[in-house]
Amino acid sequence: MTVREILRMGDPRLRRVAEPVLDVGSAELRDLLADMRHTMVAAHGAGLAAPQIGVNLQVVIFGTGQVSPRYPHELPISPTVLINPVIEPMDAQETLGWEGCLSVPGLRGQVPRWSRVRYRGLDDLGQPLDRVVEGFHARVVQHECDHLLGILYPQRMRDFSQFGYTDILFPELATRSGDDD
Ligand code: NI
Repeated sequence: MTVREILRMGDPRLRRVAEPVLDVGSAELRDLLADMRHTMVAAHGAGLAAPQIGVNLQVVIFGTGQVSPRYPHELPISPTVLINPVIEPMDAQETLGWEGCLSVPGLRGQVPRWSRVRYRGLDDLGQPLDRVVEGFHARVVQHECDHLLGILYPQRMRDFSQFGYTDILFPELATRSGDDD
């Protein structure tokens, strides 16, 4: 179990399309998930995708079961492992909301996302997951799964007047957590 280096925007490894996991029961996958959990917790992240630590596989984790210090006004999301995910919108409604990313430290931007989505995939035991979610949960899963397509949130933004440094936009968060983002 290791806290791994998180790649930052500009690294070409963040722009790759990730490969599906073929063997969900492998020791390699178990070790990868342990490293991802440690890395996400150490960085106080709301989620992490395998490509962010340089592993080009369709694996994301999100949710800590607790309120995120970076998103103190959002409901907690239970810890989730999602492998080989598929996301579909439930309708055409979009919501604009603030996002940050551990690969884009120190910045936040307003990103449009589907308001309600269904996501499917496998959990860490290889069991099927099938959920319909909305709000912050829907936003987080769309953000994490975008990493598997080589997409970072600034590429989803439409209004760059709503993009800035976290400590300037949200000084109360900077003093509370001391985190980059
Ligand atoms: Ni991210």
